[in-house]
Amino acid sequence: MDVLVLSLYLLSTPVVGAVAALSLWFLKIFVDRKWKSTQKLPPLPEVPGLPLIGNLLQLKEKKPHKTFAKWAQTYGPVYSIRTGSNTVVVLNSNDVVKEAMVTRFPAISTRKLSSAVKILTSDKSIVAMSDYNEFYKTAKRHVLTQVLGPTAQRRNRILRDTLIDNTSDQLHALFRNRPLEAVNYREIFQLEVFGLAIKQTLGKDVDSIYVEELRTTMSRQEILNCLVLDILVGSIDVDWRDFFPYLNWIPNRSFENRIKQLDIRRTEVMKSLIKKTKMQSAFKEECYLDYLESEGNMLSERQIQMLLWEVLIATSDTPVVTTEWALYELAIDSKRQARLYEEISRVCGSDKITEEKLNQLPYLYAIFQETLRLYSPVPIVPLRYVSEDTELGGYFVRSGSEIAINIYGCNHDKNVWENPEEWNPERFMEEKSETMELFRSMAFGGGKRACVGALEAMTISRMAIGRLIQEFEWSVTDDQVNDVDTVGLTSRKLQPLLALIKPRS
Ligand code: HEM
Repeated sequence: MDVLVLSLYLLSTPVVGAVAALSLWFLKIFVDRKWKSTQKLPPLPEVPGLPLIGNLLQLKEKKPHKTFAKWAQTYGPVYSIRTGSNTVVVLNSNDVVKEAMVTRFPAISTRKLSSAVKILTSDKSIVAMSDYNEFYKTAKRHVLTQVLGPTAQRRNRILRDTLIDNTSDQLHALFRNRPLEAVNYREIFQLEVFGLAIKQTLGKDVDSIYVEELRTTMSRQEILNCLVLDILVGSIDVDWRDFFPYLNWIPNRSFENRIKQLDIRRTEVMKSLIKKTKMQSAFKEECYLDYLESEGNMLSERQIQMLLWEVLIATSDTPVVTTEWALYELAIDSKRQARLYEEISRVCGSDKITEEKLNQLPYLYAIFQETLRLYSPVPIVPLRYVSEDTELGGYFVRSGSEIAINIYGCNHDKNVWENPEEWNPERFMEEKSETMELFRSMAFGGGKRACVGALEAMTISRMAIGRLIQEFEWSVTDDQVNDVDTVGLTSRKLQPLLALIKPRS
């Protein structure tokens, strides 16, 4: 019997009806009390802005995390701003962020996506951008079982070893051919990490592909641009109508064309990749695609495509960003580089570093953690939406507000971190700190929506840093020393690291 019919049937019997009425009455009292108690809380501090547009002009330079952190010094760790007709509550301290991610999660579990991200995620069809619903729970289970959970990660060990070996081999080859030239480390590592992501999702690496609908053959670099780099740039494209929803009837064709074009190209490339690897199924390993398809008609073709694409983009970006920043810091800091080299030599002797040795290398772990803290690859968590009146940091937060969790702000908070602008891995080695506490820096988020790729990111990044410091001495030219500007949705180094490398004898 249908649940609704069953409920109506039960309500029609006098006793059950009376019990139900009583329960509804108690529920009403409870909701009223909760509403009244949140109403008594003080309102949030507001950052003054202009009529109609609010604080939009103050956020023009596309690095809102820095502006938010600056405002926190005046208005406190939690305050509200206005972006056109939207109210955004900005959270900048560990305590209030933990409150939002854990205690108040039920009231703020949905996402508020910009128009660009809505189109590029096919309206929340990926784990990271979906609301907290059945699709989310199922898709998260799939990705954990097949790609990111501990068992899947053990299965993919050989792919990671190949990634690190290939990166090291290419750097040795570059040094042999042009010993005095600086190397663009990102160019090499990013393509290798992308290769790993393709193998995890499609079972086989792909060097090039003919995309019928686009009538072009694409190299691996072009596939990477189309599926990852172009989309990261497109995700921060702004449709001014997001800030004035009542003006949605006015067309914004240039914005729509730009984003739809990115979506079409991404879709066609994904289709061709899936088709190509399926045709060569005899030569490929068991993979995420096989698993998602074996779920039968539970998932549509589009959903499968998007879930595969999510792993490609998430794997190929943040671990690369983090590793590059860590190598940059080590290249300009010879003392800390020597300390890391000494630790690796002591633990591994003349053997190459392996994943089994990682938990004996606390300084390597501290370097990874400190890099995540200082450069927080995801500086602001994608906006959430308040679905019922709630409170945060002792303030009243109205339903309908948006929530911006400023991880960068938390990780640069002077009340928590001494000299927060300094890269100082030793702060994660202090006796009083719990060195192995993964979520101390907040870089992976927290609560139910914490990063599910943290294990993979930590392993790839630490193995790459460890192996490359074990095999090479790193330095940079003088003009590179202060080159710390960032760009994009994740805090990617604006200019790639150009490093001088010298194999250790
Ligand atoms: C250094 C590397 C990484 C950082 C700093 C990072 C950061 C984050 C953060 C802050 C969130 C939380 C967003 C929220 O609270 O809503 C998140 C979620 C997520 N991350 Fe990562 N991430 C990293 C690597 C990865 C990798 C390698 C993958 C692999 C596919 C991945 C997949 C995901 C997914 C699927 C979610 C959504 C989880 C959920 O909503 O339940 N991440 N990540």
